[in-house]
Amino acid sequence: MSFTIRPVVSADTLALSRICLLTGDAGQSAEPLHRHPELPGLAWALPYVLLPSEIAHTWGFVLVDDAVPDEDHTTKAIKGYIVGASDTRAYESATNLEWWPDLRVRFPLKSDGEKRTKADQKYIDLLHRGPDPALEACLAVSTAHMHINLLPEVQRRGWGRKLIGYAVNHLRGQGIGAVWLGIDKRNTAAMNFYEKLGFKGINGAPNNLMALELNTWNEPRIE
Ligand SMILES: CC(C)(COP(=O)(O)OP(=O)(O)OC[C@H]1O[C@@H](n2cnc3c(N)ncnc32)[C@H](O)[C@@H]1OP(=O)(O)O)[C@@H](O)C(=O)NCCC(=O)NCCS
Repeated sequence: MSFTIRPVVSADTLALSRICLLTGDAGQSAEPLHRHPELPGLAWALPYVLLPSEIAHTWGFVLVDDAVPDEDHTTKAIKGYIVGASDTRAYESATNLEWWPDLRVRFPLKSDGEKRTKADQKYIDLLHRGPDPALEACLAVSTAHMHINLLPEVQRRGWGRKLIGYAVNHLRGQGIGAVWLGIDKRNTAAMNFYEKLGFKGINGAPNNLMALELNTWNEPRIE
């Protein structure tokens, strides 16, 4: 099987939402936890694709199965993604203005009889409260943060490393020297992956926040 990495486009959003769900419980599927399966993607993936990148300073790449026709934007074709924002504070402002308000209307805080799971409600509480702003300790390392998720069938085959390589290349092109991310504390597999790639803990931040200094990345980008 061969795959291509290309920039994400808005037609990819359903696939991103699905991938986010299928990896959304500390790396495992969150599908059984939700009646509203779109919630994880709405919180952690879609704003990076659907907000105007000139305002939110977002970017993203997807891993696409070459055997599936170009016009297929489902998870038949799209097997993983990496998304991020080069200016985290700008991203936070953009989501506060342009993203969370509509979702608060779509998902009222109180369910009013509609069936919700505990996990749904946790996300709905989050979108009403807004995610916590990034820690200054993280921003001192870099303005840029990211998220990466691959479907189980393509994990442990080197694609995560390659997607990070694309992100590194993109961020270097913007003159950025490091990138950081947050990891669910239960997701030890992801922590091991990041450590292997050279991510390190961040001074003054909890140990589930890690950063990569881009000058330590010396792998060739594999096309
Ligand atoms: C975590 C994730 C992005 C890693 O991507 P991947 O394609 O599976 O990882 P790669 O195959 O590129 O591995 C790169 C290196 O990390 C190591 N690695 C990957 N997963 C690992 C694990 N669970 N434990 C130990 N090492 C691991 C690999 O052995 C490899 O090292 P090597 O080249 O020296 O052998 C991917 O597995 C994933 O999306 N998981 C589910 C969602 C998730 O947890 N996302 C992260 C949220 S913070």
